[in-house]
Amino acid sequence: MDSKQQRRELAAGGLPERQFARLLKAVVVPRPIAWVSTTSEDGVDNLAPHSFFTFASEVPPILQFTSVGRNDSLRNATSTGEFVINLADLSNVDAVNASATPYPHDEDEFAELGIEREPSAAVRPPRVAGSPVSIECRTESTVDFGESVVVFGRVVHLAISESVLDGDHPAIEKLAPMARLGRNEWSEIGRIHRIDRIPLEAARRADES
Ligand SMILES: Cc1cc2nc3c(=O)[nH]c(=O)nc-3n(C[C@H](O)[C@H](O)[C@H](O)COP(=O)(O)O)c2cc1C
Repeated sequence: MDSKQQRRELAAGGLPERQFARLLKAVVVPRPIAWVSTTSEDGVDNLAPHSFFTFASEVPPILQFTSVGRNDSLRNATSTGEFVINLADLSNVDAVNASATPYPHDEDEFAELGIEREPSAAVRPPRVAGSPVSIECRTESTVDFGESVVVFGRVVHLAISESVLDGDHPAIEKLAPMARLGRNEWSEIGRIHRIDRIPLEAARRADES
């Protein structure tokens, strides 16, 4: 890419907030999608996709998702202390999108949309039966940024479908995760590059030559 680029410089605050956020969401890409299942205190199950989602800590294993506004997933994950992150894969993409429709708190997206659930091993919220991976979490803490709230969850159990494993390792081609891009764009995994890390000794030798 040209090293002398003509750039558009955008100070935060120089644009309306939503417009600025739209641009950020189009460049912080691709984002994995957590398909979050929760259960309310009244026992109503809930399911919704969240692409503000990533790893927060390796040891202990902590994942995070963000509720933009106070959505039902946040409400349930904080009031009951449990949630499940299901993999949003290609085979479920229409159901994932349908579960983003803002059904009222007392309506169950599994039932509304005919999405099959199965019991989790360690927490009360159910898993999505048709998702190849479910990660069961206990809510560890939240960080409030005003409109948005980040939810941190400690992973207590991981369930992986045998159908996506190559030996003991999940195969990316079989997982077929969907990712979120800008606007209403989603993507599948593109070409896979297998790139080994460079040991310090090798980097030093390359510098010398
Ligand atoms: C692909 C995708 C990603 C989304 N990511 C988020 C997100 O990171 N945070 C959020 O609050 N809403 C996100 N949404 C919107 C929520 O899914 C939507 O507001 C949903 O109604 C929230 O459901 P709930 O109230 O049952 O938790 C996303 C929607 C889609 C389709």
